[in-house]
Amino acid sequence: MRFFDLFVPGRVCLFGEHSDWAGGHRRTNSAIAPGVVIISGTNQGMYARCRKQPGELVVRSTLTDGTVTETFRVPMTLERLQQEAAAGGFFSYAAGVAAYMLDFFGVDGLEIDNYKTTLPVKKGLSSSAAFCVLVARAFNQAYQLGLTTRAEIEAAYQGEIATPSRCGRMDQGCAYGQIPVMMTFDGDRISVKPLRPGGDFYLLIADLCGKKDTVQILSDLNAAFPFAKTPRDTEVHCCLGAENQRLLALARAAVEAGDAAGLGALMTEAQAVFDQHLMPVCEELKSPRLHAVLADAQVAVWVYGGKGVGSQGDGCVQFLCKSVASRGELEAYLQRQYGMPCFELDIKRPASICKAVIPVAGLGTRMFPYTKAVPKTFLPVVTPDGIAKPVIQVIIEEALAAGVEEVALVIQPEDEPRFRAYFQTDVRPETLAKLPTALKHEAERVMAIGKRLTFIPQHDAKGFGHAVLLAEKWVGNEAFLLLLGDHLFRSSETRSVARQVVERFEAFGDSQSVVGIYEETLARVKHYGTVTGEWIEEDTLQLRRVFEKPTEDEAQTYLTVARHGKETYFCVNGIYALRSGIFGLLRQQAALSGTGEVQLTPALEALRQDEGVKGLVVCGTHFDTGIPSIYAETVGKFGSSLVH
Ligand code: UTP
Repeated sequence: MRFFDLFVPGRVCLFGEHSDWAGGHRRTNSAIAPGVVIISGTNQGMYARCRKQPGELVVRSTLTDGTVTETFRVPMTLERLQQEAAAGGFFSYAAGVAAYMLDFFGVDGLEIDNYKTTLPVKKGLSSSAAFCVLVARAFNQAYQLGLTTRAEIEAAYQGEIATPSRCGRMDQGCAYGQIPVMMTFDGDRISVKPLRPGGDFYLLIADLCGKKDTVQILSDLNAAFPFAKTPRDTEVHCCLGAENQRLLALARAAVEAGDAAGLGALMTEAQAVFDQHLMPVCEELKSPRLHAVLADAQVAVWVYGGKGVGSQGDGCVQFLCKSVASRGELEAYLQRQYGMPCFELDIKRPASICKAVIPVAGLGTRMFPYTKAVPKTFLPVVTPDGIAKPVIQVIIEEALAAGVEEVALVIQPEDEPRFRAYFQTDVRPETLAKLPTALKHEAERVMAIGKRLTFIPQHDAKGFGHAVLLAEKWVGNEAFLLLLGDHLFRSSETRSVARQVVERFEAFGDSQSVVGIYEETLARVKHYGTVTGEWIEEDTLQLRRVFEKPTEDEAQTYLTVARHGKETYFCVNGIYALRSGIFGLLRQQAALSGTGEVQLTPALEALRQDEGVKGLVVCGTHFDTGIPSIYAETVGKFGSSLVH
């Protein structure tokens, strides 16, 4: 049975602390406003390797300090799991969640090796909830239950409350990963909305190393619920209700707009509101250490704002820093001046393109008879660092350097064992032992790439467009990066060539597809998709025509482009940042072609007519490996550091 890897972060409550349980009081008093919080997954978390384990639950854990626990084993029966859950302790969480999964989904056993933990425990980061989510997700994946993140959250919560530990309902929000999530609490109902940050936010959380009595804080604040009896109670309701809702609406807008200065100011305002209304009812909320550091004029130089964390008191403080550099200075200062250990939290604008498709199922007739032996994507090239790699690895590395997380290769079904042998099978120990260190690292890199790959079979080589269409289900309704399986790139600036295309796609607000283009000689346009259009920026054409492999005559008649005072030609370089609308157009092409080939270029031309397509003149060179004479040139030039 194969292992699979999981990572679950902890979570920090950025705004709205205490409103979660306050909103829960709507069960008895509907005049209370629903609670709203924004939480975010932390950079730190729990890593695990998991696989099915018939008949028992087997868990091993590695604590933050590197200590490995003894292995916990329990038979996969409801009674034994429930007993272990009720007994308490670290493994009770796993037993509690396993009992729930067995009861509701009839799963069998599981082995979980939590081989690394970077999450500080007992720092209000919900390490227990992270562990429960990890167990729920491991069952979900091992038994292919198809549960949504929301359902995993429920399983994690039910599992945790089967143990003696108490947890809040917002703790399991870490299931959404390292993104901010808005959660609303209305009596027993919770709704969860992942937010899409419009920019990067650099937070620093510092342990105030003070004292904090969470039970006392909760008891003092809860005394005002469910019905307000005094004007002060009414103030508490207002602070955790209407005022909280107002601040959270503004905070959500600031997150989505990428407005770090605005979000920092809101943190400071939230603390002021909290102090004004809640401090008078709870001595613990005077929190002298928190207020001293928030009022420190030196700290203000590096931050846009800050506030207390979690239940507040002298537990932790969070700051929104002006930059990565100012965060570094603040961290050093807090450690030096106050002896406060810190950890960083990044909230990042998500990449607009997370997936890449690389079709490599072509027949490779132009490289025959080599392709009778091996698919052409396994042809060797030597990279500038002197390592011999198959073409496909270099192309996948190009895609990953553009920021994508997952890559699908469209392959001929009979080639799958070859791809798996290369990317997903460990090197034999006797070979590994003989490799120099650099190549040992390379072996690890290849396996790391293998974890991000999906293979999609193309049973009949019905063209490049047909291969792309087969990836539709895997890509879903998102923009994606498409790379040819036989073109290599060398950037002449710091960003990879694919990264340049993706960034330009993002810069135009993801509103139109962008293809990489380069200047080509008239004699060679017959090999490539050729484009024409109007310059809208120095390096960007708004395309007016996309033409597959034109003759010289056709190119001269329809496809000239004026550039730097001369007539020239531009061809697509094999890198496309495409909106998902391409799939519908490819389907139309497929319907028109009957059993014939489906090419990308006509669909790209249709996409251009529908919603516009831009061409970016990339900074860099591309190398074809699919034509013998050009491949021979590529082998010579690609490894040379002189090429640009
Ligand atoms: P090419 O146009 O170079 O075709 O494909 P080919 O079959 O690889 O090579 P020749 O023309 O027979 O010599 C461009 C890319 O699209 C993939 C190829 O593997 C290559 O990466 N492709 C092409 C598919 O995946 N499926 C196909 O049916 C055709």
